[in-house]
Amino acid sequence: MRIIKDLEEMQMYSFKTRCRGKTIGFVPTMGCLHEGHLSLVEAAKKKADVVVVSIFVNPIQFGPSEDYKEYPRPLATDKGLLEHFDIDVLFLPEANKITPDNFSSYIEVDKLSKKMCGRARPAYFRGVTTIVAKFFNIVCPDFTFFGEKDYQQQIIIKKMVKDLGFAIKIITLPTVREFDGLAMSSRNQYLSVKEREQAIILYKALCLARQEIESGEKNDHKILLRVRSLIGSVPNIRLDYVVFADPETLDEVKTLRGKILVALAAYIGKARLIDNLIVNAK
Ligand code: PAJ
Repeated sequence: MRIIKDLEEMQMYSFKTRCRGKTIGFVPTMGCLHEGHLSLVEAAKKKADVVVVSIFVNPIQFGPSEDYKEYPRPLATDKGLLEHFDIDVLFLPEANKITPDNFSSYIEVDKLSKKMCGRARPAYFRGVTTIVAKFFNIVCPDFTFFGEKDYQQQIIIKKMVKDLGFAIKIITLPTVREFDGLAMSSRNQYLSVKEREQAIILYKALCLARQEIESGEKNDHKILLRVRSLIGSVPNIRLDYVVFADPETLDEVKTLRGKILVALAAYIGKARLIDNLIVNAK
């Protein structure tokens, strides 16, 4: 596994790889790798000739009062995991090269980035799309891999790729969960033992919504009330939002028909956790 820190070296590596007729699969991450990330790496290994994984805790996607400084950075463990997967390149750029002090160009996907998580985190998706676009220009991948766990993120990135004409195929993979259903997340590390036990209510709430929708309940208010009261029954959890939305446009739906995205975000202790399910209404 080659480690590349320099932007031009990464670009040259990709240029030469593509000149040799090889395809590049790219998995962007912020590190603190778990099985969710590794499922993307595995998929990239199957799909592409050469696999590049980036680890970069992106400062411009964190709000001023968010966890940029505390975000876990267990680099040695991450390197070990990636070596085990035999990837080709670990791209480890430095923050002052990706977003130097005079950095001033941003990419924003209008509308989609203002819904759901965009309400509580107004600059978040702008930070994500800007950095992902920059990485696409440096890594020049044929395929990139994103998790359904961050459902809104992958929808926004697909829109950016379409709108701006990036010649990149986005592949989305299902959410990997802990034994009890909690979606794997680097931020689960913030949870105390008690909070970790309480966090399972988020997945249970999604399952309750799925069960009600799939069994033909049409009253969205009634379901949302039950979901909110289930989450509200656990102390220390503050629900940010729970929505029923169109899986493509992310517009909230009132009529429960066809495929529906059930998505939520909640604060538990220091952690802000998100999760979602796609359900089939009758
Ligand atoms: P990060 O949170 O590290 O996630 C990197 C990728 O792993 C994302 O595509 C995310 O959806 C996926 N992922 C995380 N948890 C997962 C799980 N439990 N199951 C399946 N996939 C999972 O998302 C980011 O980083 C950043 O915003 C980034 C795109 C790297 C831009 O900075």
